[in-house]
Formats: sequence, structure tokens, C-alpha cells
Amino acid sequence: MWFGATGRAGMNHRAWMRSQGFTSEVFDGRPVIGIATTWSELAPCNVHLHRVAESVKRGVWQAGGFPLEFPAMALGETLLRPTAMLYRNLLAMEAEELIRANPLDGVVLLSGCDKTTPGLLMAAASVGLPAVMVTGGPMLSGKYQGTDVGSGTAVWRWEEDLLAGRMTQAECAFAEGCMARSNGHCMTMGTASTMASMAEALGMQLPYSATWPAVDARRYETAQRAGQVIVDLVETDVTPADIMTREAFENAIRVNAAIGGSTNAVVHLLAIAGRLGVPLRLDDFDALARDVPTLVNLQPSGKYLMEDLCYAGGLPAVMRELGDLLHRDALTVTRASVGENVKDAPCWNRDVIFPLSSPFQPAGSGTAVLRGNLAPDGAVIKQSAASPGLLKHRGRALVFDSQEAYYEVAADPELEVDENTVLVIRYCGPKGYPGMPEVANVPVPARLLKQGVRDIVRICDGRMSGTAYGTVVLHIAPEAAAGGPLALVRTGDWISLDVPARTLTLEVSDAELADRRAAWTAPPPPASRGWTWLYTQHVGQADTGADLDFLVGASGAAVGREGH
Ligand code: FES
Repeated sequence: MWFGATGRAGMNHRAWMRSQGFTSEVFDGRPVIGIATTWSELAPCNVHLHRVAESVKRGVWQAGGFPLEFPAMALGETLLRPTAMLYRNLLAMEAEELIRANPLDGVVLLSGCDKTTPGLLMAAASVGLPAVMVTGGPMLSGKYQGTDVGSGTAVWRWEEDLLAGRMTQAECAFAEGCMARSNGHCMTMGTASTMASMAEALGMQLPYSATWPAVDARRYETAQRAGQVIVDLVETDVTPADIMTREAFENAIRVNAAIGGSTNAVVHLLAIAGRLGVPLRLDDFDALARDVPTLVNLQPSGKYLMEDLCYAGGLPAVMRELGDLLHRDALTVTRASVGENVKDAPCWNRDVIFPLSSPFQPAGSGTAVLRGNLAPDGAVIKQSAASPGLLKHRGRALVFDSQEAYYEVAADPELEVDENTVLVIRYCGPKGYPGMPEVANVPVPARLLKQGVRDIVRICDGRMSGTAYGTVVLHIAPEAAAGGPLALVRTGDWISLDVPARTLTLEVSDAELADRRAAWTAPPPPASRGWTWLYTQHVGQADTGADLDFLVGASGAAVGREGH
């Protein structure tokens, strides 16, 4: 009872809150519900979250709670430098402390853009108060020259078309205005849509909440319902640890395979599980996804966009289709099980959501985990976004120590490259860049694009945007800056990729690699003070979720709770 206490503590809590003009009955001991919003004009995907918060408040009031909205760090994916991922853990740390330090009984998490969803889930997991997530929803489909265009995915294509001379600068300028034409996050199955789906698959947001477009009235209806639900969770003391169990993570991993979701889900789910102490390993993503076909025909792996997925039946229709591949008795924020939530979910368009018996892509076409002397702690590849003909490939390395170094020569018509080349972009991991940016899917060299080559094998210790496509090996661990073998590759070395066998091999002898290692020196740290210094001193590798070592695990809500 935060605001109902007598004596000095109660007076302190109430007196300053009364400056906002609340009537006395809100201080009667009712559940206090924080609404953590990542609204910011510098995070355009989240700019409507104020309105979503108003709907949440309605629901909290209706259910007898006391809603209080507060800001948490907004991370605008397209604007933040050097990469929004550098700040995911900072958002998680900030939100964790705000939730714990303020007089709250439960929290509603408002997110949208890529890192805001995992950042807030990590925070809620560490605090342990009852929590519900409401993601802001995808934009309406982009429309250009009579066709749908997907955010991010179209940009990669237009960049290639511009480099290859198939589009003019003026055409590109017009096209970019046709893409993000409403509030909301990217409407391809990029990282934001993936993480919204993961939140729903984990049971942390209400059914259909991932897919209602940001401007759809039902998004606001769902937000109001979430306000009612959080009060119920507080009253019944259902916490994130009750919902985000090992079974819930297994469900999320399988749903990610079925929706053709982003490889970024691997890093984020590992980090969230780490906060909860749920045993989850990189290899689980491969093992659990192998028998799950891709059911959803969405860009970048397929044709449609989130708006189409919504009208086809949303995530519940996909989860219903997965049947016994999911733990149907896993608990959700509705306090009903996954199975109960989705058992009657209809599908209205079989070209968007394919049946399990006749899937869009066969089982095993999701994210694969690779190992070998080039990635002793693992690497991933999104098979559904790759060229099938390159999944088994051997070629000579062309090595760059940064994406900038590559971009300097990418348009060079004399660049020594052919369709078999394996492009290596390194020092892009958590410590190296820093922040493990989405730079792995650098464009194919202009020389090859002009020859009609649309894809080559690229390997990197960074990440790839969930909206991107191509045969790109990502998240190589350990990263080059941490002394991983990727640092020892030289231009001209043979590299073999065998996705069916799950291997990535540098064809260089151990003795030669030992000589190269003896001559290798670690790059200097990218910063000597501030957040970047703290981050690079403590960040873990991709295979464990790239969380900070001192943030892994949970502190619980009770820390420092004076005056309760
Ligand atoms: Fe925010 Fe894509 S840039 S979701």
C-alpha cells in the first residue's frame, strides 16, 4: 500500500503526487501501475506511444488501479550512433532501476522499435514485478508504384538498384516517402515485428497484440485490455518468471521459425532468459527450429507485410497452426494458457499463413547455428533469407576490418572479386564496433551486381537487420576484437560453409593459425570513459546474448523498498 500509509512515509508519498490534482480515493491503497513508455520524437517508430498509454490508463482505472506513466530510454534504430544495440542494455538497466525504485505494484511496458522490446523485457525480468507488454504495432504497408514495399527490405533493394544504375537518385527520394506512411514500427518481419511476436509467443502480451497495425483501433482496444490485465496480475501475483519459463522460450523459438523471424531474436531471447535464470543455449535455437517449417509468407523471406498477417489472423492463427509443436499449457498474461488463447483462432488467408501440412518453406529452413574453427562458440545464418545455392559453398576470403573499409571499395569496378568470393567483415562484434551493429549484410560489390550477381556469402561478427536478406553468416563468437579466430583470416584464405552440416571452416592449418595469433594484437578499446567504456569492459559475446556480466540475473523488486 504505497500511498495509503499513515505517518511521514505516507505523507511524503502523497503530498507531492497531489500536485497533479489526483482526487483522494486514488491513494486508498489500490495497485499502483507504472506505464513505462519509450516514446520519443527521436524514436519515430514509438512516437504514438503516448496515445497507447492513454488507452492503457483507461483499462487500469476501469480495473481499480492507479496508472502512472513514466519515460524509459527510447532507442530509435535508424538514428542512434554507432548502433542502437549499444544502448539496449542501458535501457534495460535504466528501466529496471526505475521500476524497482518507484512505488509500483506492476508495470505495463510500451515498446516498438527493435531494441525497446527486449530492453524492457530484460528489465521486467530482473525486477520480477507483474508486467504486461504492449508493443506499438507495425506501420501500414508501404505503397510505391502500385506495389507493396516493406520498410528496410525495400531500402536494401533500392540501394542495390541505385548502385547498379537501375534507379535514379530522384526515384529513390520519391520512393523513401512511400515506405513509412503511418505511425508504427517496421512492417516487414524485421526485428521489431519479430520481437513483438516473441513477446506474444512468450505470453507477455495479449493475443493479437503483435500484429494490430499501429493506427488500428483494435491496437488501442488491446492496450485498454492490457490495463485491466495488469491489475489482475498484481492481484493474483503472477510475475514474469511465472510466464517466461523454459517452455515459453521454447514456444518463442518455434514461433520465430514459423514466422521467418529475425536472427536478432536469438541474441535478445538469450539475454532475457539470462535475466530469469532460464537455461537457454545458442544450440537450442537450432535444435528446436529444425522440425518447424516456415508458415508465414512475409518479407524479407517472403512476399507480404504485417498488415496482411494481421488480416490473415495474426499470430494466434500461426500459433494455432503449430499445434503440438508448442507447449500449449504455458501460462500467459491472460492467466489462460497458450492453447486456450489460440484454440479458436481462425485463418483468413492461406497465402499469408500456410498450413502446417503444406508449409511456405520446409522444416529446417529457419535459423541454423554453425560451428567450426572460425566460430568455436557459434554463429548463425537465416536460411530462409539466403540463396539455396550458396548454403554449401567454398570460396576465397576477401577481408575487411570494418564496414567502412569495405564501402570505400565496394563500387570499384576493378575490385578483385567474383561470385565465389567470401566477403569477411570483422571487428563488428559487441566489443569491437562497439555494440554489435547490423552491418553484416553489406551490399554485394557493384562489379558483381552489374554482372547480375545478387548474392554472395558474407561472414561477420556483427548482426544483420531483420529486414535484410542474403547468404550472411552472423554473430560469429568469439568476435575478432575478443581474439576470436575471425581476427586471423587473411584475404585469399579458403573458407567453406556447409549449412546442412552446420559447419564454418577456415582452411588454414592449426600451426599457421598459431603463428598468426602470436603476431595479432588486440585493437585499443573504443572509449576510455562513460557508457561505452563500461559496456566494452563488461559485455558478453553474442552466443550468450551480449548482456553485461553484472546485469545477468535478477535482483527482485524488494531491493531498497523503504516506506512500503
Ligand atoms: Fe524502428 Fe525498424 S526502425 S522498427
